Amino acid sequence: MCGIVGYIGKKNAVDVVLDGLKKLEYRGYDSSGIAVVKDGRLQIRRSVGKLKNLEENIEKRPLKANISIGHTRWATHGKPSEENAHPHTDPTKSIVIVHNGIVENYAELKSGLEKEGKEFKSETDTEVIAHLIKKYYKDTLHCAVRKTLKEIRGSYALGVICKDEPNKIVCARQDAPLIIGVGKGENFLASDISALLSYARDMIFLENGDIAELTSDKIIITDTENNVKNREVKNIKWDCVQAEKEGYKHFMLKEIYEQPRTIEDTFRGRIYPDEGRVYIEEVKLSKEDVKNISNVYIVACGTAYHSGLVSKFLFENFAKIPTEVDIASEFRYREPILNEKTLVIVVSQSGETADTLAALRLAKSKGCVTLAVCNVVGSSISREADHVVYTRCGPEIGVASTKAFTGQLTALYILALDWARKKESLSKEKLKKYLKELWEVPVKIGNFLKQAENVYEVAKKFAHKKDFLYLGRHINYSIALEGALKLKELSYIHAEGYAAGEMKHGPIALIDDDMPVVSIAVKSRIYEKINSNIEEAKARGGIIIVIASESDKAIADKGYSVIYVPDCDEFVSPILSVIPLQLLAYYVSVALGCDVDQPRNLAKSVTVE
Ligand code: AGP
Repeated sequence: MCGIVGYIGKKNAVDVVLDGLKKLEYRGYDSSGIAVVKDGRLQIRRSVGKLKNLEENIEKRPLKANISIGHTRWATHGKPSEENAHPHTDPTKSIVIVHNGIVENYAELKSGLEKEGKEFKSETDTEVIAHLIKKYYKDTLHCAVRKTLKEIRGSYALGVICKDEPNKIVCARQDAPLIIGVGKGENFLASDISALLSYARDMIFLENGDIAELTSDKIIITDTENNVKNREVKNIKWDCVQAEKEGYKHFMLKEIYEQPRTIEDTFRGRIYPDEGRVYIEEVKLSKEDVKNISNVYIVACGTAYHSGLVSKFLFENFAKIPTEVDIASEFRYREPILNEKTLVIVVSQSGETADTLAALRLAKSKGCVTLAVCNVVGSSISREADHVVYTRCGPEIGVASTKAFTGQLTALYILALDWARKKESLSKEKLKKYLKELWEVPVKIGNFLKQAENVYEVAKKFAHKKDFLYLGRHINYSIALEGALKLKELSYIHAEGYAAGEMKHGPIALIDDDMPVVSIAVKSRIYEKINSNIEEAKARGGIIIVIASESDKAIADKGYSVIYVPDCDEFVSPILSVIPLQLLAYYVSVALGCDVDQPRNLAKSVTVE
């Protein structure tokens, strides 16, 4: 998730764009850049690291113009570096672009352009777009962009300027937000409202397929066939703080609601259900390599550890690879049996967790092949692992991990299916089925989130209870652990996740009529079993809260508080069943007046032991 800003008008465009990029730094901050057209020439400045490095760069080599586009990056393709920082130009430096999104078919487009003798300077997917616009630039920039977008598959919020048309910005959006700020004698564009509020309150929210041409006093919006589109101008009342959270009360709630898009971004360009195809560009493990893996260790901390517990089921059921999951702080001291046929997967949102990094180094010292599932390009773990799968969730600001967790589940699910395909341990039909199940998850989560009020009601009802029990079985046992962790870290209430089948071996003694028991009872092979565990808890007076499948009407009249999630295959059910538990923990925390985004005693990344 990156941030783009553009300006055309009477002001010094560089000041406006830099100011806007500062407001978008929360969307990404591993590198940034800006471009202007001045005296018939493109001038560009790019810097690695925080935005202040770009500002210092411009102080040393000042820029002044009335038209500019800028970008702050959260890398998905290509490490954070000056070469990979946006803006990107065509080889003749007559066209320059900034892009937020993912070009799914960039590899085939790039090889086609290279066959035409084009040379690339960066590792990014974005640079392909600059080359294509130049290739199609015959009469107008707007026309060249329209032709280019017909070849692009994927998501984009795009800003383009050209030295031969110095009074125009062309922009376009598909599955990545792009907003136009409507001024008087000036116009703006940005990835979200927060970058525009200081200058304009009248805004146009571009829709998928829209292409807009901005001059200082005109805005024309069309589709790729050049049909004019009329878009409403909305007057925005938010202040800057509200805008950065896009109107949500907390970053955590915003990140919960971002999950349909971040899950889709994580699988975009990597799965093709109709073809039964999986393609993880960053992982260079051949069929032979995968067949030579004797066993897998998945090592992580906290929420990331829970994603490893879920994926054990996937690697063993899909790819038939024996898989162990361990907490990094335990793994690194217990002298695990490792050799060159063991593949060690480390999972980490931040890519800087000390115990996980140490576990990675231990695995490498034993000759293991290592693979990281990580959300931060260029982080220590992502750089030191042999292979890495990025979760493309954008910066996760809330300390309690939500979108990164479902991004990890998505990445691990894809990896398990990729290895099943390579080992031919899953039929083509089954592979297509599971890929389709994952493909449908974002819509199902979106539908659930549209009617999640009952989670708020349940939270209000039980927010003052002192102890909670979370029960799950099979692949959702890990989600019981994750739900309990969310409640603990957000509301400071004691909550315990337990394997439901273990209740009779002691913990059932805990249950009384003041104990909420949250159970995950979605449709699955152990549905009957978990239901009898719930009955046992109810018989002891427990307050029963159940996460159930929408089609399960029978559970409605058992006197439980039922939260329904859309039906899905049991192997993707963790990605859905965790969502109500994230919301439950969030609403309880709000009800108790806790600091949701920065809970006491916690840090976003535990870089010390
Ligand atoms: C999760 O909500 C917590 N913030 C914490 O458990 C976190 O998942 C853990 O510290 C691991 O962090 P990482 O993914 O950045 O390695």
